[in-house]
Amino acid sequence: MKDSIRHLIQQALARLTAEGVLPEGSNPTIQVENTRDKTHGDFASNVAMMLAKPAGMKPRDLAQKLIEALPADPSVSKVEIAGPGFLNFFQNSAALAQRLDAALADPHLSVSKTGSKQRVVVDLSSPNLAKEMHVGHLRSTIIGDAVARVLEFLGDEVIRQNHVGDWGTQFGMLLAYVKEQPKGFDSPELADLEGFYRAAKQRFDESAEFAERARKLVVELQAGDAECLRLWKQFNELSLSHAQEVYDRLNVMLTPDDVKGESAYNAELADIVASLKVKGLLSESNGAQCVFLDEFKNAEGNPLPVIVQKAGGGYLYATTDLASMRYRSQQLKADRALYFVDQRQALHFQMTFEVARRAGFVRSDMQLEHMGFGTMNGADGRPFKTRDGGTVKLVDLLDEAEQRAYSLVKGKNPDLDEGELRQIAHAVGIGAVKYADLSKHRTSDYSFNFEQMLSFEGNTAPYLLYAYTRVASVFRKLGTGMDGLGGEIKLEAEQEQALGAKLAQFAEVLNGVGEKGVPHLLCSYLYDLAGLFSSFYEHCPILTAESETVKQSRLRLAALTGKTLKQGLALLGLETLERM
Ligand code: ARG
Repeated sequence: MKDSIRHLIQQALARLTAEGVLPEGSNPTIQVENTRDKTHGDFASNVAMMLAKPAGMKPRDLAQKLIEALPADPSVSKVEIAGPGFLNFFQNSAALAQRLDAALADPHLSVSKTGSKQRVVVDLSSPNLAKEMHVGHLRSTIIGDAVARVLEFLGDEVIRQNHVGDWGTQFGMLLAYVKEQPKGFDSPELADLEGFYRAAKQRFDESAEFAERARKLVVELQAGDAECLRLWKQFNELSLSHAQEVYDRLNVMLTPDDVKGESAYNAELADIVASLKVKGLLSESNGAQCVFLDEFKNAEGNPLPVIVQKAGGGYLYATTDLASMRYRSQQLKADRALYFVDQRQALHFQMTFEVARRAGFVRSDMQLEHMGFGTMNGADGRPFKTRDGGTVKLVDLLDEAEQRAYSLVKGKNPDLDEGELRQIAHAVGIGAVKYADLSKHRTSDYSFNFEQMLSFEGNTAPYLLYAYTRVASVFRKLGTGMDGLGGEIKLEAEQEQALGAKLAQFAEVLNGVGEKGVPHLLCSYLYDLAGLFSSFYEHCPILTAESETVKQSRLRLAALTGKTLKQGLALLGLETLERM
């Protein structure tokens, strides 16, 4: 709808330009916003205020001219001038109702992408395999998964890339330690990778002889020694299987096929450095090979380098990323690559993106975007730690979430049988953790708080899951599903109009999520939608409506709400329940 209003304004502008009211070449980006207060119509534009000056007119006078020049459109019932010169558009509720009926009939709920369809690489999760996944990887995994799902729903072709850290000096230490275990990879210590890593590190710090062995193993590994590679591979497989368990439990759409780790680019790294040299981008600094970028300066005002090869010959994180950018552009032929990685790596990405462009590793029309995210803190606002100061393991966190959800649901619903209780606790507990993360703005830090995320009030998973069950219960009472309803939607009561207007915004919200990589837009939308459904449900009786026509219309509105909630939650990676 916003797009068609934008289009109407464009036509009016063209007409006024032809008439000489507006100067040639006034081509502003036309902003159309949803109004908050429905007495001001449904959409507002400030275009008259933006163009008043170049036109040499008062904004309200120009607004009046624009209204006269607007082509008639059946979906707009009237246009008014408000305040300093806003144009307020009121949508025609019959036309809106028709659009909602069409959405209800479409399994895709009338959602499509605004721009052209693209092939998009989503770089997500990407833990370092030397350690166990910890809470820091939660955000990348969950946010990346939600955005990938939304892009796919919009019609993009999504290629997920789990750029795991499976190469580097820590593996020497780990292999040396595995070799010391009498049972090798079968030793029970390896069930706890985190503890295993810590023990190996301690051994490394305490014994010079062990450290020496570890260093030798790294050299052998990098030289391609078969036995070392075999052990290294075995270690990574074990670590990846831990990660896969977490993905499955989180209902995240990642599989072993999506893994393309740092080591996969080993063979390319020498060529990356050589190509940079040929392009004249390389300089040597203290024996290291660097690309200096003038636009990035340190505190003293000197250009910062991207180091691609150390003095000893070793390659770095940046070198691997350059190789993966080239692969994503040239091999995968992506139009766009999104990197869901901690905000603290922002400079790394700004700089490597720039180097990749200058070196021609990526096509000039390929979009590279770092989708940085803030830190997850504890309830006290400080970095999230266990009581004794260690990193919190993801599995422990999820166990606690499910346990708490279990007690909560059992308290509310003591009659449920154990199996159903467990199933609900799983959906609510995991859903709460994911939703709490997704509903915050991606770039801000946030505090992890079990009480808050498991509350049935506010913008939380339990609230939304419960809202969905309320819609579902209408159809349970009726004895039908949400499909195959007769009649048509009519928006009469104020609550019906407000709910209808919100339902019509689903596609626009999803497009926003896909463009900016911000799932919190979808969370806020679903939360608002659930609230509007609540007032509708309270004020507009459905099953006891005054007439069959009204009942049909309300059932259709409820069904579209139910489907939108369910689809929206699914795109966030949340399972819905029919009752709870
Ligand atoms: N393994 C890295 C880390 O844990 C994240 C990798 C992100 N992806 C990338 N292409 N650099 O910090």
